Amino acid sequence: MERTQVVVPAGEIQRQRGIITQIAGELSRLDHPPLAMVDTYGCQQNVADSQRLMGMLRDMGCDFTQDPFQADIIVINTCAIRDNAEKKVFGVVGQLVHAKEHNPRQVICLCGCMAQQEIVAKKIRESYRHVDLVFGPQALWKFPELLHEVLENRKRVFSIENVHGSIAEGLPVVRESNVKAWVSIMYGCNNFCSYCIVPYVRGRERSREPGEILAEVRQLVEDGFKEITLLGQNVNSYGKDLLSPMDFADLLAEIDKIPGEYLIRFMTSHPKDAGEKLFDTMARCGHVAKQLHLPVQSGNSRVLRAMNRGYTREQYLEKVRYARRVMPELVLTSDIIIGFPGETEAEAMDTISLIEEVRYDALFTFLYSPRPGTPAAKLPDPASREEKQAWFDRLLEAQNRISGQLHQAYVGRTVRVLVDGESGDPRWPLSSRTHGGRLVHLSGSADLIGKYVDAHVTDSNTWALFGEVRA
Ligand code: 5AD
Ligand code: SF4
Repeated sequence: MERTQVVVPAGEIQRQRGIITQIAGELSRLDHPPLAMVDTYGCQQNVADSQRLMGMLRDMGCDFTQDPFQADIIVINTCAIRDNAEKKVFGVVGQLVHAKEHNPRQVICLCGCMAQQEIVAKKIRESYRHVDLVFGPQALWKFPELLHEVLENRKRVFSIENVHGSIAEGLPVVRESNVKAWVSIMYGCNNFCSYCIVPYVRGRERSREPGEILAEVRQLVEDGFKEITLLGQNVNSYGKDLLSPMDFADLLAEIDKIPGEYLIRFMTSHPKDAGEKLFDTMARCGHVAKQLHLPVQSGNSRVLRAMNRGYTREQYLEKVRYARRVMPELVLTSDIIIGFPGETEAEAMDTISLIEEVRYDALFTFLYSPRPGTPAAKLPDPASREEKQAWFDRLLEAQNRISGQLHQAYVGRTVRVLVDGESGDPRWPLSSRTHGGRLVHLSGSADLIGKYVDAHVTDSNTWALFGEVRA
């Protein structure tokens, strides 16, 4: 019952396409070819969303620019996960007042996770009057209609309703690479980790139909894409809401049957829902990269409970042990938050002891940032910023040593990599990734981009490997 309401009817998407054509007609009457600028902050889901927005803008006849003074339409796709991400966006949006003075007919749009927050929308409404259109992630598919309203009536439009969210199929897309592609398999999050704003801004979990996902991946493989990353806030919840339930491991196994030379990656996995079935399926499926981003957040079970994560330190470690048993070559990465309210020095050190035990290939590390409206933001937080920074620095020191050691062990080995672009460094002009996702800077010529090659690793540092192509 609820399910059918979640998918945007095809007729609605068709109507948006009609509005795109109408806008294209209007923009073609400008005295110059229309230009759009799309500026993206935050996670891969935002990158994927921006590719859809760019698809719509392209179909409106726009070319793309990075210069706000040249742009007729500016879209800032924002992230709300931490305070510094929000501050940066407010700085960027504030600066746009000059571009708007230069070109008063310019349309400035703010979308993404920040836009979905009442307090942000209020601040934009009151203090950033040069912003014309504000819409949350749930309204992305309605962008043509909202933009048209601004263009036609020259009035400001705010669309931040619909907290549950929907699924829109068949939106146009601009893929910025022809080697790597993002495929969203689900949207939203139901986990409500106590520090996190995402469930409040991206709505409830909703999964795309497997048939839609398989068709998209099949098309990408046919078009020559070599690396496809499945996206979801928590891919392990995939399928729970489908009318004929299917879990993420089953979806991976179905995708794996698509013939061709390509790799499947996915993110993010929540440890509480990642289990033996998933790891066995990964181990068995030849197209699935032996790479797992499994955010632990903390190595202390009391803190994990306060974070509402749904697993203990021991349960997490047991999952890692199992995953490594079935995939000895597994590349494992994680997210860590230091300084959760009430965390003590001993508890922060438990996180360091966990990373020493797991020996992750790489980590994404964050200082806790209070998000208004989340339960954690109301907790007492006695540790000072300086103390937290000192714990954070110790964590980084330990991880840098571990990453350096793990990378050093690649030196002298030959590994299969996908050459995915240019690096900008004349000594190692190509960038590439191992099957496990480690970055390898390579010597060689640009005609190798998009190809799998064997790379002999000659050097390494904390962040990357360096090598040459083996004939
Ligand atoms: N403060 C700091 N880090 C956070 N993350 C999510 N919310 C917060 C917050 N309030 C981190 C988590 C998550 C990653 C995407 O961002 O580690 O896994
Ligand atoms: Fe945030 Fe937790 Fe959902 Fe990840 S799983 S988006 S950390 S609430």
